[in-house]
Amino acid sequence: MKLWSKGFEPDKMIEEFTVGADRELDLRLARYDVQGSMAHIRMLESIGLLTSEELEVLLKGLGEIAETIERGEFDIEPGIEDVHSQVEFMLTARLGDVGKKIHSGRSRNDQVLVDLKLFMRDELKNIAEAAARLFDTLIELSDRHKDVLMPGYTHLQVAMPSSFGLWFGAYAESLADDMEMLAAAYAVANQNPLGSAAGYGSSFPLDRTMTTRLLGFADLHYNVVAAQMSRGKTERASSMAIASIASTLGHLAMDVCMWMCQNFAFVSFPDELTTGSSIMPHKKNPDVFEIMRGKCNRLQAVPNEIALLTANLPLGYNRDLQLLKDIIFPATTEMVRCLDMASFMLRQMRVREDIIDDPRYDYLFTVEEVNRLVLSGLPFREAYRKVGAEVQDGTYRPVRAVSHTHEGSIGNLCNDRIAAKFNAILARIK
Ligand code: ARG
Repeated sequence: MKLWSKGFEPDKMIEEFTVGADRELDLRLARYDVQGSMAHIRMLESIGLLTSEELEVLLKGLGEIAETIERGEFDIEPGIEDVHSQVEFMLTARLGDVGKKIHSGRSRNDQVLVDLKLFMRDELKNIAEAAARLFDTLIELSDRHKDVLMPGYTHLQVAMPSSFGLWFGAYAESLADDMEMLAAAYAVANQNPLGSAAGYGSSFPLDRTMTTRLLGFADLHYNVVAAQMSRGKTERASSMAIASIASTLGHLAMDVCMWMCQNFAFVSFPDELTTGSSIMPHKKNPDVFEIMRGKCNRLQAVPNEIALLTANLPLGYNRDLQLLKDIIFPATTEMVRCLDMASFMLRQMRVREDIIDDPRYDYLFTVEEVNRLVLSGLPFREAYRKVGAEVQDGTYRPVRAVSHTHEGSIGNLCNDRIAAKFNAILARIK
């Protein structure tokens, strides 16, 4: 049975092909669909399209459906296309003719838009919270290990002293940049499209300001065509923010994989967090961070997938848009999962404290030596030549100590200021 039934049933193959994964994916939209309907009917009552008695009955019916959803007992039955149809059918089955009144002045195009805005708002919040948990972990570890030196590399060649304080803090501050993207995506999602109907508005005097307030949106998508155009745009902005976080996290995962390698052996994990080999009895592999790296790389492809799916679509609703759900739903879930896994693993990571005692890192300290000479009065280029000559003739002896004091350096990480920056952005995603 279809909402749009005209006395014939479509071919089974056509039905399967067009409904696709909607019956499963739409379950994630169900609570938002009911929320949107509640706001819509309150507004219909306020403009005289429902009596207050009808509103009460309908709100009660929708409330019961909401409870079914929260109990995890809501299902989209075979033969019913999507969540919007399911809710209307349930309501009509329970309440009779009054259930048929809720669709005045709206369309499923409108419903799915508002559902997705509400859904994306919550998903972006979930991602922001997971990112905040990782951020806090990174800052805590940065503070804890601020005195543990490690080699810094350029060109993957031993370069200058770095520290675990710097390393953890670097990813924390990098996440703050990603949060800017997330806050921007959140602002795009946080606008009310309801009232665009099929995409061109309605001849009913809909009170869109009222539904905006009822649904807690920051503002309206005023132009009804722009509201419809926001399908795809919201997902694209969100996927770009996700890709940005994924790029940071993928980079971190790569560092950990490399540092777990015996040739580095900078970090290690309890055995139960590593994985083995079916042939080599000695193996303790970093599969967690490899899977994380792979997932994060895939997440960076999502904006492209969305761009290709939506490129040059004609204005207005097109069914292609349905496929956005297949792309963005798993992406938000994977992002949260990767962020939480990173927090979990890093909290148990063991850091080697004597890395730089190894003679292979002697040359890390050449610039420190040059700077000491400069401070004692030698021009930089002369100091550089002097230390260079010592390295060349084998007389250079490192002093394994650093005294970096400027903002953001080994000795002055400014983690409190990084945290203030991060938290100010996080506060916009509420
Ligand atoms: N499942 C559809 C989607 O996600 C719902 C909107 C259907 N609208 C339509 N005109 N067929 O886009």
